[in-house]
Amino acid sequence: MLEVNGLTAGYGRLTALKGVDIRVDEGEIVFIVGPNGAGKSTLLKTVAGLMAPTAGTVGFRGRPIAGRVPEELCRQGLVLVPEGRHIFRTLTVQENLAVGAMIRKDKAALAEDLEKVLDTFPILRDRFKGIAGHLSGGEQQQLAIARAILQRPALMMIDEPSLGLAPLVIDQVYESLRQLNAGGLTLLVVEQSTARILDLASRVYVLRNGHVVLEGTAPELAEGNALEDAYFGYVADGHAVA
Ligand SMILES: Nc1ncnc2c1ncn2[C@@H]1O[C@H](COP(=O)(O)OP(=O)(O)OP(=O)(O)O)[C@@H](O)[C@H]1O
Ligand SMILES: [Mg+2]
Repeated sequence: MLEVNGLTAGYGRLTALKGVDIRVDEGEIVFIVGPNGAGKSTLLKTVAGLMAPTAGTVGFRGRPIAGRVPEELCRQGLVLVPEGRHIFRTLTVQENLAVGAMIRKDKAALAEDLEKVLDTFPILRDRFKGIAGHLSGGEQQQLAIARAILQRPALMMIDEPSLGLAPLVIDQVYESLRQLNAGGLTLLVVEQSTARILDLASRVYVLRNGHVVLEGTAPELAEGNALEDAYFGYVADGHAVA
């Protein structure tokens, strides 16, 4: 579904992504983990068309998309839930969801999807007419994901869904990701922490310093310390690498 090859991107003289290869197959839930500044958000922003790559290719559903604008990618089914959620705090839950649905013309199917989304996230039904800024952090994350679902993604990319949330709330958000994936949605999720992801992940990439330093399926990475070692930048003999 998504095929990223040799992707390089940055900010002025700073190269934040240095030839990254990743892929996401249909039906998978793939995680990208790595420490602060690893390039995770840069990767999602570049794939979503918010930044232009300086080298490399991105293929989505078999077609090259590098350099396309976000609106066009969104219509093709590639949707990003950005870091920090970016909901409209002064608007109601209903209005925030309407913004997500703006690109759609199929109003009957949209009404059905809205019902499904409100079933998945009952709190949003309870607070439908309430101001989004009054929702808790976890509820705002659910709103951001719900809004993205109304854009009918084939692939949803989510940047740090657990950011700033209490452990119990993270469990709820992860449970909703599990349900969405079980319902057929392909997911690419970025997280800073490796905790909790192995139960959910089809595959995991560890990104450090703009490079993919490890890739594996969840069972492969559950064995031994490879995941932690890659994350913290240790090689097998215990020495730190760049
Ligand atoms: N708008 C920007 N302008 C200049 N440099 C940036 C900008 N955004 C990110 N960077 C730099 O690019 C590198 C990668 O940043 P990025 O935001 O992709 O990291 P990240 O893996 O998402 O980190 P975090 O886990 O903290 O969100 C960092 O060195 C960062 O300082
Ligand atoms: Mg980030």
